[in-house]
Amino acid sequence: MQVTFESPSKSTEIPECSSVVALLFEGNTYTPAVKNLDTMMQGGIERAIKSSDFSGKKGQVLSLIAPAHMSVNRVVLLGLGEIDNCSAQIVTESGASLAVELLKMPCTTATFLLEGITVPTLKNHEIGAHLAAGVLLRSYRFNKYKTNQKPEDHRRIDSLKVILDLPEKADECFSKLSHQIAGVFWARNLMVEPPNILTPSAFVHELMSLKDLGVKIEVLEEAEMKKLGMNTLLAVGQGSENPSYLVVMHWNGGNPEEAPLAVVGKGVTFDTGGISIKPAAKMDEMKMDMGGAAVVAGLMRSLAGRKAKANVIGVVGLVENMPDGKAIRPGDVVTSLSGKTVEILNTDAEGRLVLADALWYTQDRFHPQLMIDLATLTSAVVIALGTKYAAAMGTDQKAIDQLKQTGECVGEHVWQMPLDDRYDKDIDSTVADVKNTGANGAGSITAAHFLKRFTNDIPWIHMDIAGVAWSTETHPLSGKNPSGFGVRLLDQFVAKYYEKSI
Ligand code: BES
Ligand code: MN
Ligand code: ZN
Repeated sequence: MQVTFESPSKSTEIPECSSVVALLFEGNTYTPAVKNLDTMMQGGIERAIKSSDFSGKKGQVLSLIAPAHMSVNRVVLLGLGEIDNCSAQIVTESGASLAVELLKMPCTTATFLLEGITVPTLKNHEIGAHLAAGVLLRSYRFNKYKTNQKPEDHRRIDSLKVILDLPEKADECFSKLSHQIAGVFWARNLMVEPPNILTPSAFVHELMSLKDLGVKIEVLEEAEMKKLGMNTLLAVGQGSENPSYLVVMHWNGGNPEEAPLAVVGKGVTFDTGGISIKPAAKMDEMKMDMGGAAVVAGLMRSLAGRKAKANVIGVVGLVENMPDGKAIRPGDVVTSLSGKTVEILNTDAEGRLVLADALWYTQDRFHPQLMIDLATLTSAVVIALGTKYAAAMGTDQKAIDQLKQTGECVGEHVWQMPLDDRYDKDIDSTVADVKNTGANGAGSITAAHFLKRFTNDIPWIHMDIAGVAWSTETHPLSGKNPSGFGVRLLDQFVAKYYEKSI
């Protein structure tokens, strides 16, 4: 999809395109473009609004066939809700619901008429950029493996032209968002890729593309991890034919003196549960158990693409959890990189084993000012929060508050769950230092306590994204596809709190 921003031309003519889109706020305060179109259509817009239930609510769309004398096929009205409540997220979501409507029609080009529109919290060019971003985010498709596509599968929006007051400023704002969206799309693609294709080594190969953007990449192979003592990570992969990897990505855009932010992702390319095997129903969904790693990849792409002025380290543990003669068993004890011994009571609680070594390695080597891990870690979080909030737990309350607040701005909501020594006791083992499952409920919290034991008390936040990574319900910005939840959130988090010092 090509997006261009242009100044209004002197003539009042609408450029040739399939659909022309104008905005309306709730309460029907007509924007200049709507007034113009209404005149052009001899009162047709007012009549259409009066004879429908369109009231300008956010995301509401009214699509009209254009009269014969106009050069466009359709005139589309898009509601943005109440003008005083308008925000970047509302504009983005409205753009996304417009995309759904546009994609229903065989239309390939659209022109937005935004001249003169401002709201209390957004400038004209920001409205244009976020609107285009919303359309783009919801236009995501993954048809790679369909050899017999229906015409609807082919449908796409070829180009968006946005007419507004300051096109250069809109371009600048949209350029940042488009890097973010490239990160989101990449994360989504990685999650949809089937597990026979996206093996740990294929994932490593994918990450190599970041080099072109200036990201430095290091790959630790099994032999090296064995030498270092990363036995809990290796334990998860030992039942698989596909070797395990740990990949470190460096984006050094900030002050060289400043300690980095580290983001660590669970990358289980397929989770059968291992010897504690999962039931057959829906086991295919466990191809997205590398969702945390995909978000880390997407974030690095966004940061490098927009040349973020911050130092960020991305670390992903890439493994496949399979049952096999060589696989770990319930009852096994392994020694982690930290030196702590772990009793594996359930081989399906494997994500925390991968993260234990990845987190310890990250803090030990990089001394980050904050470490955030992302993981599709527990089904318990889906019970607790469903698909609308990710869970966050950690040891840096200020950073958690900042993360929650940023989440509200980008519509990626985060809910904090408690850490408490009384939960921590639940994972004391009788034969080793720690066991990999608790027995008294609170599965997401005991999982976080397990991770906490491998953070060496550096400031840390754990995000359990099992419920939000791939929503079963239609999501405003991603539909039924994986969401890429975390890329926009963390990109914005970095922009807000880590780029300010330069
Ligand atoms: N990958 C799963 C968690 C998961 C479940 C992610 C549903 C996405 C959707 C994780 O490895 C797992 O199996 N966790 C177990 C832990 C239990 C054995 C302590 C779980 O939550 O059931
Ligand atoms: Mn599992
Ligand atoms: Zn898992």
